[in-house]
Amino acid sequence: MIVPSVCAALALIVPSAMATDPIKPNRTILFHSHNDYLQPRPVYHAFDHGFRSFESDLWWNKDAKKFYVAHTIIEIDHSKTFQTETLDRVVKIMEGNYSSEYSKNAPNKFLNDPSNQPTDDPDWYKYYSKGFGGVRPIQLLLEIKSNDGETSWPHLMEQLEPLRKRGWLTKWENGKIHYGPVILVGTGGTPSYEIAPKHSRDYFFDCPAGSLNGSVETPSGSKFPFNSTLCPMSSTSYVSVPHSNLGLLPPPRKAPAQFHRDIVETHHYNSTTRFYGVVPFAPARIDDFNMLIQQGSDWINTDVMSDQAAYNGRS
Ligand SMILES: *[C@@H]1O[C@H](CO)[C@@H](O)[C@H](O)[C@H]1NC(C)=O
Ligand SMILES: *[C@@H]1O[C@H](CO)[C@@H](O)[C@H](O)[C@H]1NC(C)=O
Ligand SMILES: *[C@@H]1O[C@H](CO)[C@@H](O)[C@H](O)[C@H]1NC(C)=O
Ligand SMILES: *[C@@H]1O[C@H](CO)[C@@H](O)[C@H](O)[C@H]1NC(C)=O
Ligand SMILES: *[C@@H]1O[C@H](CO)[C@@H](O)[C@H](O)[C@H]1NC(C)=O
Repeated sequence: MIVPSVCAALALIVPSAMATDPIKPNRTILFHSHNDYLQPRPVYHAFDHGFRSFESDLWWNKDAKKFYVAHTIIEIDHSKTFQTETLDRVVKIMEGNYSSEYSKNAPNKFLNDPSNQPTDDPDWYKYYSKGFGGVRPIQLLLEIKSNDGETSWPHLMEQLEPLRKRGWLTKWENGKIHYGPVILVGTGGTPSYEIAPKHSRDYFFDCPAGSLNGSVETPSGSKFPFNSTLCPMSSTSYVSVPHSNLGLLPPPRKAPAQFHRDIVETHHYNSTTRFYGVVPFAPARIDDFNMLIQQGSDWINTDVMSDQAAYNGRS
């Protein structure tokens, strides 16, 4: 954990880092709302700022039969559940009851677009950046923090029934991806070894960017190689990549090639890349983001809502 005074000191030694402006990318950059439940108005705030991907850190409570949303166990507030902070809000947006940006017909426009056809070779970047029928999809990134993924994941999937019963979820069925206006992606704590063997599912896995030559291994030893029908998005910790400078100082000259390698590898498997863990108050935050975009990364993982418009030019 970096204390703010250290950051202030770093800001003094690297004034040039503070002055960096966001570059102008030549394509749409995808924005993910990190720890979205901590925003003043979860989901809505990020949605208003042009984000279409929202993160929930989940703690299953078997007595209450609820998932609380919080970063750590001591931060749990019993009035803040996955249902209240995320799910109800997404349903409200999608039913056209929240914003003129998203009409009641939008999910049907997405589903009924003639170019929306089942495929065994998904183009996830196109899915996320353009969607279908002029409607971009919403992604829920689900992170089970309570260390009980095996038992709590099925409960989480039950809670997502309101999205499922409306026919909105992207599915993998009969060897094909069926694109829907919502995609569920499990990350840290998700039992990938239970997801990968399934022949039919409406949830996906956040695979390890730069290591897609590996596989999901089940407890019985079967291996399921990562591929694009399992991994719409793949992620790695920014600071775990060699020469990242922990994201505190602008990336040194050796860094871009390291990130480039992970991005090219992930794109080879037709997944999209996200690097998480660039801290919101790091003086070199914009230098880090600029470098990731220049190296071809797809997602920016951020808590700072104005970042979307800073790069994509509109909110
Ligand atoms: C954007 O620029 C990168 C090089 O920085 C290039 O590899 C990529 O093909 C360009 N993309 C588009 C859509 O022009
Ligand atoms: C949206 O509005 C419709 C019509 O007013 C209502 O039937 C529906 O329950 C609302 N949905 C949500 C999620 O608020
Ligand atoms: C991709 O991975 C999934 C999940 O492990 C597997 O079921 C599927 O058969 C794989 N697809 C191909 C084309 O290998
Ligand atoms: C994947 O590729 C990396 C880099 O080339 C290599 O170090 C690693 O051993 C490979 N992993 C597997 C499971 O093949
Ligand atoms: C990635 O997508 C391209 C273009 O659709 C396809 O030709 C290629 O086989 C795919 N690669 C993998 C590893 O799935």
